[in-house]
Amino acid sequence: MQTRDTDFLIIGSGLAGLTAALHLSARGRVLVASKRAADEANTRYAQGGVACVVDPADSMKEHIEDTLQTGGGLSEESAVRAIVEGGPAQIAELEKCGVHFERRAESPSEYDLGQEGGHSRRRVLHAGDVTGKALIESLLARVKADPNITLAENWLAIDVVPTGWIGLPGESRCVGCYFLDKKSGEILAVRAPVTILATGGLGKVYLYTSNPDVATGDGVAMAWRAGLPVRDMEMIQFHPTCLYHPAAKSFLISEAVRGEGARLIDRRGREFVYDFDERGALAPRDITARAIDSVMKKQGDPFVYLDISHRDAEYLQKRFPTIYSTCLTFGFDMARAPVPVVPAAHYSCGGVVADVNGRTAMPGLYAIGEVASTGLHGANRLASNSLLEASVCAARCAEEVSNHWKNNPVADITIPRWECGEAVSSDEAVVVEHDWNEVRSVMWDYVGIVRSDRRLARARRRIRTIREEIRSYYKEYLVTADLIELRNLAAVAELIIRCAQQRKESRGLHYNEDWPEASAVAEHSVVRDKPGGPLSEE
Ligand code: FAD
Ligand code: SIN
Repeated sequence: MQTRDTDFLIIGSGLAGLTAALHLSARGRVLVASKRAADEANTRYAQGGVACVVDPADSMKEHIEDTLQTGGGLSEESAVRAIVEGGPAQIAELEKCGVHFERRAESPSEYDLGQEGGHSRRRVLHAGDVTGKALIESLLARVKADPNITLAENWLAIDVVPTGWIGLPGESRCVGCYFLDKKSGEILAVRAPVTILATGGLGKVYLYTSNPDVATGDGVAMAWRAGLPVRDMEMIQFHPTCLYHPAAKSFLISEAVRGEGARLIDRRGREFVYDFDERGALAPRDITARAIDSVMKKQGDPFVYLDISHRDAEYLQKRFPTIYSTCLTFGFDMARAPVPVVPAAHYSCGGVVADVNGRTAMPGLYAIGEVASTGLHGANRLASNSLLEASVCAARCAEEVSNHWKNNPVADITIPRWECGEAVSSDEAVVVEHDWNEVRSVMWDYVGIVRSDRRLARARRRIRTIREEIRSYYKEYLVTADLIELRNLAAVAELIIRCAQQRKESRGLHYNEDWPEASAVAEHSVVRDKPGGPLSEE
């Protein structure tokens, strides 16, 4: 097995990973590994934009309050403050990297700020409706031009390497990671004093999701297998408005569309959301998604409608060019008629416990971006706060790491060969596909927007059985990319269920009809299991 050395190993090439790489390249050799093409990340699909206080009429205090209010009592004020206050400097950095945030035509010195649910004022900087694409393209161009950064595409991280796994005494620390090189099929190790998980989200654990295929929760699963605590995994945000069309793959229709006046209506044209919250379509997402779910169930409809037909085509083409043209492709002209929408899994508010500098419970291992649970989002994320978090925490993590990386020497460590089965399975592809579909369906049916004790228990039994099957495959056969992702997806499904079962209340994004009230005290749900070798999971 080949072992490569680097100073800073970053797993993931979304906003968090690329930002950290650019900040660290002046300090040493950086290796950014990405399991597909480098631009394939949740970041690329972000539409609405980045929430940040840039308007002189706005204030840090208001952004902090909106974030805490939306977080349902589970956000941590110090983390919220650090991230909100770190925003303006990061916006300036992104602009230096070439990102163009739109400005008002009538007053070009001012940003054209979008409005989204839960924000008490316009606060979202955007690059049309393709903010994520603008971010990725600008940062990636810089990364590719930087001689200190190596970009390894199609490298799938399998497991990080804690010293405890390789039999070294003392406190377990992270010394690198095993990868599957998807092109050659070889397994290799990277040895590094610093490993940063920037692996993004886990939307693919649900049947319907706004997330791209890379979002399989690998970072959470790897950290958990290494014995790190993960928390609040039940806090899955369902975006209220994804296009309802069999071929649209839950295409997102940005909340910014509602910010420009779009109404949510049922088939009779009634604006039902006001029955649930006086803020109507711009209430926080937990409320809006539950309102839609409730109306769909009550009326027996497979979708509700989003109506912005009071705006003309010229306006929509200019403000939301991608959304407008994509809807047209599927036969919906937003300027003429309401479009059918449904909620879909969108964002994981919980994750690997980390502070705002990315520090986890294990020396040498850091977590930033969507994979991390910093305390910002609590029980529900305020719209457009995740790009803010990814950017601010990546920069802070780079600073932290620059000061401490030499405390975790790895030169004398030999990473052992990856142990795996030798056989090649003939029916693996079909079993993997079947299990993959089953995990996603079980999660959608039993661990969706509205939960109950019985449904959670049923889901846990089903996921356990699937995990047993995956485990035996994993031991006996050569690992493949599909099998590695499936193993992670099923692990993360179980973590979501276990966290949901710990929470004997309803709060934020977690609604359990057997426990409809919030408890007096807000507490994190935490799962921490004993670490094992790569093949032992609990
Ligand atoms: P990502 O951008 O997801 O990057 C993760 C990276 O890790 C990818 O490169 C992936 O390939 C890689 N990776 C994963 N596992 C492995 C592995 N095992 N080995 C190697 N590489 C791996 N947030 C906002 O704030 N504003 C918005 O407007 C907004 N709109 C959104 C719209 C959509 C459709 C979606 C899906 C999300 C949106 N979000 C938005 C959320 C936001 O985009 C993400 O939370 C954020 O981009 C996460 O950034 P990240 O760097 O943590 O992860
Ligand atoms: C959107 O544009 O509606 C997505 C914003 C977000 O997820 O923060």
